[in-house]
Amino acid sequence: MRRNRAYWDRLAAEYEAPGRRSWSEEEPRWGIWGVPEFQIKFFPDDVSGFDAIELGCWTAYVSSWLARRGAKPVGIDNSPAQLENARRFQAEFGLEFPLIFGSAEAVPLPDASFDLAISEYGASIWCDPYRWIPEAARLLRSGGRLAFLVNSVLLMLCAPDEDDVPAADRLLRPQFGLRRMEWPSDESVEFHLAHGEMIRLLRSSGFEVEDLIEVQPPRGATTRYPYVSHEWARKWPSEEIWKVRKIP
Ligand SMILES: C[S@@+](CC[C@H](N)C(=O)[O-])C[C@H]1O[C@@H](n2cnc3c(N)ncnc32)[C@H](O)[C@@H]1O
Repeated sequence: MRRNRAYWDRLAAEYEAPGRRSWSEEEPRWGIWGVPEFQIKFFPDDVSGFDAIELGCWTAYVSSWLARRGAKPVGIDNSPAQLENARRFQAEFGLEFPLIFGSAEAVPLPDASFDLAISEYGASIWCDPYRWIPEAARLLRSGGRLAFLVNSVLLMLCAPDEDDVPAADRLLRPQFGLRRMEWPSDESVEFHLAHGEMIRLLRSSGFEVEDLIEVQPPRGATTRYPYVSHEWARKWPSEEIWKVRKIP
């Protein structure tokens, strides 16, 4: 948490402009390829009236999209600097909702408070899944939904240590033992779980898996991130979306 806070606080200025762009979008666009919501259906069909929590909300643009769809979002983030950006955008766009400084691994809110928990590259990769997934289950009401977007397992196995070198077309690290990942280029700590382990963790936390969407970017899509090429991502999934439901 300490290391990831330092990392995200440091990047706050650089991420202000992309944050503002996302706040301005009418149609949500997901992940590093900006795949539109109508193609991917990350949100549940109708979120109107939903109590929703965004885990690792960054500039909270996902929460802004939820609020515009009639949900009542709350965002939590571990970086005070990113939350400052979020507050600035709330004022700029005239959209207020609660923002909490804290960790998605231990959220200071009561059990069964939410209908939807969502994370796009937030808690979903920056928190230990053995902590944040049971925590999401605790926060959700019975039948509530958890949706999260992560780098694909395959991409993590093919990604070189250097973060500016794109993924290879071969396996560069073992899958067994995958969980905590540290890159030599910075102080951040990420978490990635192989599918079998993820399914077992979700089920033991009280979830049933509704979908696992392997994201393929549209033809001509671009990304500002250097770690995967469009050609690679057209052949293999570079991102995946899990949609799970708390078993009633
Ligand atoms: C890449 S941003 C995710 C948001 C955005 N949806 C996106 O796609 O870029 C990652 C965010 O996760 C936050 N984060 C990292 N560790 C966290 C933790 N333990 N609890 C809550 N947020 C955390 C960071 O502060 C950062 O704002």
